[in-house]
Amino acid sequence: MTTTRSTNTVWHHATVNRSRREQQNNHRAVILWFTGLSGAGKSTLAHAVEERLHHQGCRTFVLDGDNVRHGLCSDLGFTDADRQENIRRVAEVAKLMLEAGIITLTAFISPFRAERAMARRLVPHGDFIEIHCACDLAICEQRDVKGLYQKARQGQISHFTGISSPYEPPEAPELRIDTGCQSLDDCVELVVDLLANRGIVMPNLTD
Ligand code: ADX
Repeated sequence: MTTTRSTNTVWHHATVNRSRREQQNNHRAVILWFTGLSGAGKSTLAHAVEERLHHQGCRTFVLDGDNVRHGLCSDLGFTDADRQENIRRVAEVAKLMLEAGIITLTAFISPFRAERAMARRLVPHGDFIEIHCACDLAICEQRDVKGLYQKARQGQISHFTGISSPYEPPEAPELRIDTGCQSLDDCVELVVDLLANRGIVMPNLTD
């Protein structure tokens, strides 16, 4: 009998586990889940935080919406169902990276509360830190770095978040950052401080 789903699989426990990797890395693993409108500054902030952490000797990786959609999720578009599947895959990858002992930074619009909650539920309590890059639609649209808002307004792109597709802001994110008004340096500081306060990286690493 053939089936499209995997059956008869048995989980193999690694001896080199997360806690041994974390010990070797000298920091904890965590998922930093950046969410917000296109152009809110998720990728910019995630990469700036990564740059800082990398400089301090941390093991990091950024999963970025535009990049992941070139490979792992290149078969997906922007309908609600496709976005749900996009986030499901990314959440599973982030979970693997957590086991690999890495500080994983994800930069996806991830517009729906239900999918963000699903991503959170996949991992142990405290390992998922939701960071809302809160930036007014008007500012994102004014920046329009990729020219996509203009195209969406002209009807050349359908299901565009904020224009013709909804964005559900987080109700209780671990961190909400005003990426519309605050400087990039200040935003980085807020994230790095949170990591130190939670004991994810050593405070001296954040100096
Ligand atoms: S998500 O909604 O599924 O989380 P994701 O973060 O992967 O979205 O991709 C968003 C990026 O795709 C945007 O930054 C933008 O560059 C591009 N994009 C192309 N079409 C759309 C669209 N219809 N809505 C939003 N972003 C789009």
